[in-house]
Amino acid sequence: MQNLLDTLKKAADFLARKGLEKPRVEAEYLFAAALGIKRLDLYLQFERLLSQNEVEKLRLLVVRRGSREPLQHITGRVQFRDLLLKSDKRALVPRPETEELVEWGLELFPEDQAIRVLDLGTGSGAIALALAAERPKWEIDAVDQSLDALALAKENALNCQLVGRVSFFQSDWFKQVTHRYDLVISNPPYLTAEEVAVAEPEVKDFEPHSALISSEEGLADLKIILQQAPLFLKPSGWVLCETGIDQHSTLAEISKQLGYANFVGKKDMSGRDRFWKAGGWSLS
Ligand SMILES: C[S@@+](CC[C@H](N)C(=O)[O-])C[C@H]1O[C@@H](n2cnc3c(N)ncnc32)[C@H](O)[C@@H]1O
Repeated sequence: MQNLLDTLKKAADFLARKGLEKPRVEAEYLFAAALGIKRLDLYLQFERLLSQNEVEKLRLLVVRRGSREPLQHITGRVQFRDLLLKSDKRALVPRPETEELVEWGLELFPEDQAIRVLDLGTGSGAIALALAAERPKWEIDAVDQSLDALALAKENALNCQLVGRVSFFQSDWFKQVTHRYDLVISNPPYLTAEEVAVAEPEVKDFEPHSALISSEEGLADLKIILQQAPLFLKPSGWVLCETGIDQHSTLAEISKQLGYANFVGKKDMSGRDRFWKAGGWSLS
């Protein structure tokens, strides 16, 4: 019989050998998920002897993580702002930077203003659902071309008790969109195939490439969104996108060519160019 602490140490050693940067923390998350307790509560049970069943259950999860399957797929959940979302191979794992994109969107409008929002490429539904949870008056549509992603987004709406707050539908960017919006928000694919080929295994082997890769140096989808957004925005509306870290000078040229009067980039918390805002276009 092994106690919890010794088993945890062995798991962390194994994960370190598999190249994980934070093996101990990750082992703790896996143990907490397997044992159905909070991570910090593990500390109260370090001396507890584990049953053979528990050891086997833990072993399976640790082996999966050792094969570099994302932690969020194994535990099946990810925290995104105030929401605990389901996460699996059907959609991108929502990232902390995207929480900052949501923050920027929230800041653009007074809290009590009722506005209409479109989330393009909603994936797990993270952006649309976070906005719905934090702005009860906002009317929100969300599209994706992937039916798998939309199914996950709808499950997340149900789990977060936000059914009816977001209308999810399939669309290739704006193709099925008929309304005009105050805010078009998107975290589109913006990586090149070469960047994904050298990414960590968690990304390149487990996340949908259709959520990651865009042609034309990663800019094709951002270009489509910037090009077409004026047709779907109200005159005072904004388009807000997450971007790659070296795309802002090109996005400035594109935004100028397209006739946007206002456009500006924003850095993420680690100081990298990651977000783009454009609005106030003139079609002359
Ligand atoms: C980077 S992921 C973002 C997912 C989610 N919004 C998030 O931030 O976690 C990009 C999403 O865009 C979707 N997508 C890619 N091409 C699309 C297209 N032509 N039309 C609509 N959605 C598309 C993908 O299926 C994927 O869900």
